[in-house]
Amino acid sequence: MTATVIDGKAYAARLRAELATHVARLKEETGQTPGLAVVLVGEDPASQVYVRSKERQTVEAGMESFAHRLPADVRQEDLLDLVRQLNGDPKVHGILVQFPLPNGLDQQQVIETIDVAKDVDGFHIENVGRVVAGLPALVPCTPLGCLMLLKDHLGDLTGKEAVVLGRSSIVGKPVSQLLLNQSCTVTTAHSRTANLPEVIGRADIVVAAVGRPEMVKAEWLKPGCTVIDVGINRIPAEDGKTRLVGDVAPEAWEVAGAMTPVPGGVGPMTIACLLANTVTAFCRQNGREAPAELSI
Ligand code: GUN
Repeated sequence: MTATVIDGKAYAARLRAELATHVARLKEETGQTPGLAVVLVGEDPASQVYVRSKERQTVEAGMESFAHRLPADVRQEDLLDLVRQLNGDPKVHGILVQFPLPNGLDQQQVIETIDVAKDVDGFHIENVGRVVAGLPALVPCTPLGCLMLLKDHLGDLTGKEAVVLGRSSIVGKPVSQLLLNQSCTVTTAHSRTANLPEVIGRADIVVAAVGRPEMVKAEWLKPGCTVIDVGINRIPAEDGKTRLVGDVAPEAWEVAGAMTPVPGGVGPMTIACLLANTVTAFCRQNGREAPAELSI
């Protein structure tokens, strides 16, 4: 048996096409264009690639992209001033400051300075709290993408045993919370969890987000389970180059019922969900109901 492919790349393309339709309608009805500001500090090569993709896809969806690039030695206060300026800019509906920031800058202070209504990353403590309270919120992009893929594949998640491997604030914790909000029975496992194979073995849904290449072994999985592999790990390849692998060993394809590939699974969903959050933020700032299919 080979697991069904949960095709995040195709889902993300459909979502971006739907977004473009919503954006065109919103422009016509409001006379405004949803806008996303992306701030990149320093010259980290991976961050530069991400930021360029975000800018390109924002424009392709018909939205405005405002790029701000600051030197790595920018002062914290100047970065915060830029964020405050974007908070007050009526053309900007979403703000994303690309992380990690260079050493010496305080990431949490930046997050808390972003207007909660424009926090399309969903990292602001008020959005975190709203997710926990089950209130409408801007939900972090990668967790939102994971949940969209799970609901698309499985439908109602009520009563499912879900194990989330990883407890980061960006992925593990919010995914656990969102699954709980969907009435799953949730276990958040991590690098210090005792009897990890046994814990993973009871899961109908496994979300692997530990950042350790191929750590989850096929023999740990319950046959037929659904696996969402959030890992994007670069490892040395035989030809002297590198290749991308997930947090789940490839033999898992012979045990799971369905699984996301790496690349082409969760990765493409993250930017699509960023654009979805920007449209959601735009609608709420304009006193409109956000389209239901852009959230969960
Ligand atoms: N760096 C890696 N992933 C993310 C993300 O989702 N948001 C931000 N702001 N920075 C990141």
